[in-house]
Amino acid sequence: MNTSLQNKNISIKVGKYLKTEPKKISTEIILGDCLKILKDLEKNSIDLIITSPPYSDQRTSTYGGIKVNEYVEWFLPISAELLRVLKPTGTFILNIKEKVSDGERSIYVLELILAMRKQGWLWTEEFIWHKKNCYPGKWPNRFRDSWERLLQFNKDKKFNMYQENVMVPTGDWAKTRLKNLSETDKIRDNSKVGSGFGKNISNWIGRDMSYPSNVLHLATESGNKKHSAAFPKELPRWFIKLFTKDGDIVLDPFLGSGTTSVVSKEMDRNSIGIEILKDYYKIAQENVEKIQNKLPL
Ligand SMILES: C[S@@+](CC[C@H](N)C(=O)[O-])C[C@H]1O[C@@H](n2cnc3c(N)ncnc32)[C@H](O)[C@@H]1O
Repeated sequence: MNTSLQNKNISIKVGKYLKTEPKKISTEIILGDCLKILKDLEKNSIDLIITSPPYSDQRTSTYGGIKVNEYVEWFLPISAELLRVLKPTGTFILNIKEKVSDGERSIYVLELILAMRKQGWLWTEEFIWHKKNCYPGKWPNRFRDSWERLLQFNKDKKFNMYQENVMVPTGDWAKTRLKNLSETDKIRDNSKVGSGFGKNISNWIGRDMSYPSNVLHLATESGNKKHSAAFPKELPRWFIKLFTKDGDIVLDPFLGSGTTSVVSKEMDRNSIGIEILKDYYKIAQENVEKIQNKLPL
């Protein structure tokens, strides 16, 4: 069964075009409140959700400004819809970072993780986005904040993951590390904590490429000066490579300037983006059109 979403001139048939027109890439940008729009999307239809919602109490002058103690309550109805529309093989990546308030780190992100687990999500991984070129500064009791969380949630322990797509050059560490292998290094070294994981370092001799860690050292520059919190394109690109293949459907319910839609289009993925503010919605549309016409953003 297909669902038709009517929003002004937009008609999305999530599911249908994948079956009937697998070669046609569709980029749908929708103006509206994601909580409302998501209800019209088909159940189990999305392969990857990647998004950065408004953080608590930040950017109150433009959007967001949800109070710390109301954040979980605000987000849960949205994450319930995301849980419904994600395929069982799909992944949800949530970019968020709690700020310091009154001398302490807020704990609403931690509370949100606990609440989402109760809602039915599996919290499968946490990636750290190391923001290499963040502004320097001096604070009396802490250092500058140069990382953000990318929380990974899934519906099922078995989800699509194309690890080979994000392999990195093994690098010089391997030359030194692999030169003098200990006896343990030459056999499978099973985890001491009984996790079932193990490693055999000698397997990596002679390999040029290896798997990355969960710390992402991506460029911070978004190149998009029209939105104060735009993703650098490399961020959605990395997760789209890792969790989707050509023709899959990517969803960003807090689209902003449209970075996720732009990158999805560049990578031949279908995408749906939702943005509540008309100005950002227009910018997102313009950015996608520029990609269509091969113009710089
Ligand atoms: C952190 S920004 C996203 C920036 C985006 N990743 C980019 O690259 O430009 C969050 C966006 O969510 C939008 N937003 C806030 N509440 C929303 C809602 N209920 N539904 C849809 N969009 C919403 C805001 O207007 C803002 O543009």
